[in-house]
Amino acid sequence: MAKKPPAPLVRDPAEIETCMLCILGGGKAVPGEGPLPARNMIVGEAPGAREDWKGEPFVGLSGELLTALLGSIGLKREEVYITNLVKYRPPRNRPPHMKEIRACQRHLLEELGEVRPEIVVAMGATAGKWFRPDLLLKKDHGLPQRLLQPSLTENLNTMLTVIPMYHPAYALRNPRFR
Ligand code: URA
Repeated sequence: MAKKPPAPLVRDPAEIETCMLCILGGGKAVPGEGPLPARNMIVGEAPGAREDWKGEPFVGLSGELLTALLGSIGLKREEVYITNLVKYRPPRNRPPHMKEIRACQRHLLEELGEVRPEIVVAMGATAGKWFRPDLLLKKDHGLPQRLLQPSLTENLNTMLTVIPMYHPAYALRNPRFR
């Protein structure tokens, strides 16, 4: 039987690497990766040290847990599109600033348009709040969210469901939140 061609990955990382819209830009970027289109998409916060080194999202300890958790619900990592709000590692792994998230969001909006996911799992409060600013992770984690911002959804699949979850890094520190 003929082998299936590999699923296309997201566009040229060089497009992101030339981005100078915030102070994080202009170095090695960590673009999203996964099939296009994809039913499921994961959005994290920002790359960490290992992601920065490999140029791939979620390949450190958080990524190992994420891959294992996907496996536990019968999903292979390669079937899911995985990305971050911000495509560069913030200095000393600090959380990205709001102006960096805003500067980077055009990449995420483009990705959402290309991936056309039905389900987005937002990892951690920062990613969750990008989709739904009034989100309270403690109360809303695991609950499908209706999107409020029309600008986010006007070019997207209107059936998009966002499920906020605790970030795997948080679950590593607090195993009862896995
Ligand atoms: N944490 C994130 O939010 N994203 C990564 O890619 C790695 C760790």
